[in-house]
Amino acid sequence: MKTICADMRNNIDPELMALAGSIIRRGGLVAFPTETVYGLGSDALDPEASRKIYAAKGRPSDNPLIVHIAQFDALDRIVSHIPDAARALADAFWPGPLTMIFHKSEAVPSATTGGLDTVAVRMPSHPVALELIRQGGGYIAAPSANTSGRPSPTEARHVYDDLNGRIDMIIDGGPVGIGLESTIIDLTEETPMVLRPGFISLEMLRSVLGEVRMDPGLHADDPAFRPKAPGMKYRHYAPKSPLIIVEGEEARVRAKISQLVLEAEKSGKAAGIIATDEDASSYTHGIVRSAGTRSDEITIAQRLFSILREFDDLQVSVIYSEAFDTPQLGAAIMNRLIKAAGHQVIQV
Ligand code: TXA
Ligand code: MG
Repeated sequence: MKTICADMRNNIDPELMALAGSIIRRGGLVAFPTETVYGLGSDALDPEASRKIYAAKGRPSDNPLIVHIAQFDALDRIVSHIPDAARALADAFWPGPLTMIFHKSEAVPSATTGGLDTVAVRMPSHPVALELIRQGGGYIAAPSANTSGRPSPTEARHVYDDLNGRIDMIIDGGPVGIGLESTIIDLTEETPMVLRPGFISLEMLRSVLGEVRMDPGLHADDPAFRPKAPGMKYRHYAPKSPLIIVEGEEARVRAKISQLVLEAEKSGKAAGIIATDEDASSYTHGIVRSAGTRSDEITIAQRLFSILREFDDLQVSVIYSEAFDTPQLGAAIMNRLIKAAGHQVIQV
């Protein structure tokens, strides 16, 4: 299949957008930018189209897709009951990086929800995403537009690297703004429960809803506690080489990473380091990439997946990363990093 690349970095091209909409309505696949990460879109109400997504990504078929909408009223058709909490959350955070889980209606095929009787819904804020949803018929199922298991794409070229030739179109909207997938909150639980941390933090959700809890399965590497979101159980976001996080007081972290990199290089291995602007220049060995300054956690979130992909391209044998326990986004950043590391964390 020839993949059409549509450049919409500066403005929405009306002809190409009309083409993208018609590809979706005919059951095809279009990758598009959102404010979180790039998504791989198809008609959410067409089971065949959803199956194509799983095939293109190599995604396990029990891992449900998020349905993207462009207006709140679109919920009526796909959700069996809209709780008051959803209206309050939508007023506060939609369009934006928040996904809500509801009981689904008959209109949503089980191929889209991985066989579940619930459906995840999000209204993204990116203008290209909103226009594509409108022109594509109002309901676009979209997982992150990466090959299953690889870091989520934050630029169109990441999508191209993974999916060129396997999908109909890639819309380039430039680098994304947030760089981490949406926060997921499950409204079918008695107490609303966060299934995946993201830009919308627990505190922000509590300020609207009062009581909100975290899925206990998120923290544990204990298999007795499984995360409720099927996608959170996979070793995900993972670079090709092993990733090890070093956590603790900053000077000790630097010393430990320096020592580990030196040992790796002595045995002939190339090592990557994920550092920050504050200390990147203090590493004398290894291939160092800074995720940005510790005082700007949005930049750290934006760059993280891209750095993991870059180390894949550089074919390093091992990657060492500092920990990023930043105030607002720390929970979301560390959730992704710890998963990418397969829970390999060294405390110093
Ligand atoms: O920011 C985002 O959410 C991006 C952009 C493209 O919108 N999308 C995204 O989709 O991250 P994906 O497929 O990579 O992750 C969706 C997550 C998976 O962990 C999946 O298991 C979970 O949402 N999920 C979807 N539907 C669910 C449901 N009904 N119940 C529980 N978890 C669900
Ligand atoms: Mg994903």
